[in-house]
Amino acid sequence: MVRETRLSVDQLISPIFVKEGKGGPVKSMPGVAQLSVDQAVKEAREVHKLGVPAVILFGIPAKKDEDASGAYDPEGIVQRAVKSIKDKVPEMVIITDVCLCEYMSHGHCGVPHPASGHPLLNKERVGERWIDNDASLELLTRVAISHAEAGADIVAPSDMMDGRVAAIRSGLDESGFVDTSILSYAVKYASAFYGPFRDAAESTPKFGDRRSYQMDPANVREAIREARLDAGEGADIVMVKPALAYLDVIAAVRCAVNLPIAAYNVSGEYSMIKAAAQKGWIDEKAVMMETLLAIRRAGADLIVTYFAKEAAKLLS
Ligand code: PBG
Repeated sequence: MVRETRLSVDQLISPIFVKEGKGGPVKSMPGVAQLSVDQAVKEAREVHKLGVPAVILFGIPAKKDEDASGAYDPEGIVQRAVKSIKDKVPEMVIITDVCLCEYMSHGHCGVPHPASGHPLLNKERVGERWIDNDASLELLTRVAISHAEAGADIVAPSDMMDGRVAAIRSGLDESGFVDTSILSYAVKYASAFYGPFRDAAESTPKFGDRRSYQMDPANVREAIREARLDAGEGADIVMVKPALAYLDVIAAVRCAVNLPIAAYNVSGEYSMIKAAAQKGWIDEKAVMMETLLAIRRAGADLIVTYFAKEAAKLLS
């Protein structure tokens, strides 16, 4: 009765990786696999049966190019997966990750800056500034609209370009998708905890890094600024990512905005627990539940986690 924080299955979001062509298990993430569209439908059905209300989809296209064309193709991998899941598991809330990194041949989340020297990789010319913020907005908006057209309930821009929530909101509204919500990865750090995800999504940058658009792990005031900016631009939910090493940031953002807060319990956090458990060094289930509860205690309303199914089983 006096317990202050509760974890419930309806606060969880389960990620799904859909891949064009042959997928398979992700080595660095035990229990996670790249799925075909049919397998993704099966997975969504299982997630739904366990009481988890939402999935977030990531796509791995057959081929990547310089325009990220697979990202907004109406017959693209995510678009087809959204349609099939909507059709077969209509109660499922479908969130789509809106980014370019999985679709760009260079693996960045935006369009390369004209002076970046790409593909010559001439770092000196622009310092660490690899990506052209404003040129990326148009493409990201196009991706978000194509996901909404396919039937996504919530689009989740994870690129960290400035102004993209406003751009996507007006793009969606102008296309008639006034009810499609935006879950913004508002506070996304340039983190080494994304390592295993980049294996799963095949999205490691081919040159440079993401530090010119993702946040410095040292900053928390900047996190509040980012969250408030996105709230002002029309975000419906703001997300902090990663979660575990950033519990103070979740708490600070919770105080600073009145929107629902999501936290992304990222791949590295997941794989560390899996690896230690495989070695018999920790009690996997106990550590998993303690971690998820801590993220809730910090102030997150929703948690994106690769543990969603396992946690749901324990919670039911
Ligand atoms: C894409 C994206 C990333 C994650 C979610 N969306 C990776 C990145 O920025 O490199 C990371 C998720 C995880 O590590 O589980 N921009």
